[in-house]
Amino acid sequence: MPLAYVNGEYCQPEEAVVPALDRGFIFGDGVYEVISCINGKLFLLEEHLERYTNGVKEIMIENAPSAAELAELCREIVARDGLKNGYVYVQVTRGAAPRVHHFPSAIKPTVFLFTAPAHPPSQEQKKNGVFTIMVPDERWDRCNVKSVNLLPNCLAKEKAKRAGAYEAIMVRKDVGVTEGSSSSVFAVIGETLYTSPNGPRILPGVTRNTVVKLARQLGIKVKEIFLSPEDFLKANEVFLTGTSFNVLPVKQIDQTRFPVENYRITFQLQDELERKIKEFINSDNV
Ligand code: PDD
Repeated sequence: MPLAYVNGEYCQPEEAVVPALDRGFIFGDGVYEVISCINGKLFLLEEHLERYTNGVKEIMIENAPSAAELAELCREIVARDGLKNGYVYVQVTRGAAPRVHHFPSAIKPTVFLFTAPAHPPSQEQKKNGVFTIMVPDERWDRCNVKSVNLLPNCLAKEKAKRAGAYEAIMVRKDVGVTEGSSSSVFAVIGETLYTSPNGPRILPGVTRNTVVKLARQLGIKVKEIFLSPEDFLKANEVFLTGTSFNVLPVKQIDQTRFPVENYRITFQLQDELERKIKEFINSDNV
């Protein structure tokens, strides 16, 4: 049964409320994480909470719960819910206060968590790939912060939905392909794996970082540079990564089709990540 937590109280997600003056609601002044729960265990929890810690530092939320405190809350909500496979959503905003743009003093952050069941992609999508479109990246210059301000991402995803696509791959005029509206993107050209470099233009995807590490361990050459949309469309393989679906091949970007049946590195990394997940499930880590 999905469960929510707001500032110390547990309730049903549809009954969870925060004051309308919460700065998360008024200004999008907060950060969030989505953490995968597999067999009742939180996958890559530390990595997610490290990104959370950087986020609250970047946007200067004072008195935000520590990574250790949030880890405890995440484990507690999973235990209370009895969640086996799904995810935990965690959001920390600056808190509620009379509306002024600058940060009010003596404000208490709002801490909101909920659990939800998993919606994994189909076997067909994992094997045959998904259709995507390219759209302009209309976001700000601090995309490394996992801010709840997701309107440009939502607009991009809506364009994808209206085109019958799974994801929108975003392109910045000045740098090239950045990432998906809610995923990281990779391309294989020749024997080299390419993905955008971490920094202000992309979210440092936890799955992205894991896949980069796995690829290097497998001896695959990885280049973290931005590719132009033209180079991307000429790639031999294209895939997406993200918490809720791991590694997903891309079979088409707009009119350009990719030969998923010939993909090698994508499936190698898909398998390797699944192996790592199984290892994690069977380990003593909690
Ligand atoms: N988003 N890039 C963006 C813009 C994202 O929103 C996400 C994930 C990713 C992948 O990151 P990770 O591997 O850490 O899940 C990349 C999620 C999960 C969301 O907003 O629901």
